[in-house]
Amino acid sequence: MCTLCSLNTTQPTDFAGRMVEMLNHAAIIQMISLGHRTGLFDGMIGFPPSTSQEIADSLGLEERYVREWLGAMVTGHIVDHDPEAGTFWLPQDHADLLTRMSDHNMAVVAQFMPVLASVETDIVECFKEGGGVPYARYPRFHEVMAELSGMTIVSPLIDHVLPVSPGLVEQLDEGIDVLDVGCGRGMALVKMAERFPNSRFVGFDLSEEAVAFARECAIKHGLNNIRFEVRDLTTFHEPDSYDLVTAFDSIHDQADPASVLSGIAASLRQGGQFFMQDIGGASDIAGNMEVPLSPFMYTVSCMHCMTVSLAQGGVGLGAKWGEQLACTMLEDAGFDDVAVCRLEHDVLNAYYIARTENTAA
Ligand SMILES: C[S@@+](CC[C@H](N)C(=O)[O-])C[C@H]1O[C@@H](n2cnc3c(N)ncnc32)[C@H](O)[C@@H]1O
Repeated sequence: MCTLCSLNTTQPTDFAGRMVEMLNHAAIIQMISLGHRTGLFDGMIGFPPSTSQEIADSLGLEERYVREWLGAMVTGHIVDHDPEAGTFWLPQDHADLLTRMSDHNMAVVAQFMPVLASVETDIVECFKEGGGVPYARYPRFHEVMAELSGMTIVSPLIDHVLPVSPGLVEQLDEGIDVLDVGCGRGMALVKMAERFPNSRFVGFDLSEEAVAFARECAIKHGLNNIRFEVRDLTTFHEPDSYDLVTAFDSIHDQADPASVLSGIAASLRQGGQFFMQDIGGASDIAGNMEVPLSPFMYTVSCMHCMTVSLAQGGVGLGAKWGEQLACTMLEDAGFDDVAVCRLEHDVLNAYYIARTENTAA
């Protein structure tokens, strides 16, 4: 009898039980992503207990699919169900973690699993042949990434993130030159450009698609203190050009992070600073045993961050480079004053404020 069959009749071993749990959780994560993308979670906020037909009709969706999705959601303890009335509802405390009303929407994060799964066959080839999977192979990466950084960076940017560096908000109010490296869709920079009209903002990113989106967004907001450029940062060299350089989750998946960090150090003017948000945790596997979401981040790294760097002929540093190695690399790049802190809203990332001898205030 196979392990799965035997689980129906006998007490599962601990590991077999965990495996079954993992299969269920993986499936639920896939369905949570679907619930986010189809608008089912958002549509169910504040809805009274309703039948699958009522839910489907109110959202313009196919009832047969909605019913099957509800099957996974109810047996997965995400949605509540009254079998006699044939109704379903989303409890408020679950809605708080699964809808666009919330800045802690974990359904956004759930989307990464299907995004990664879409390149599984390419990754299998890389295990055999080496090399990497380029950004272009991930059709929804920039969209999902912008949704995630919308919660971790953009929403809390002005009131919680920038104040981590004392005096920075005041400098931005007065007017400084700011560069965001690996800006993606540019939402953080657009928010800063709107809030700080006396400052000037530049965003560089390798992705034409992401930069086109960012430009469009700047135009929509009527901003004239911001520009975006498609730029490979591998050989970035613009000495003495910026007062603030930011990097939001964008150093670890560069082709050559060490060279980008040196370029950033050299690009800062007197009194300038580098503000880096990047995946936290330890630099070794053992040190990550108790770090939340470590299996998730090693997976994202293997199937995205590391491989996109290797695809550029890069070093494949990986998302789990960890705080010890990050500090060493900042030091090697010329930053001799580095402060590291964690923010309550962001369980994944560490925040670094780095200055060089020449830029010390
Ligand atoms: C994890 S995403 C972060 C994007 C954005 N900062 C955010 O928080 O949403 C990393 C970004 O680095 C960019 N990138 C990777 N390698 C690059 C390179 N060699 N030159 C410029 N940008 C690069 C990617 O295109 C991607 O947009």
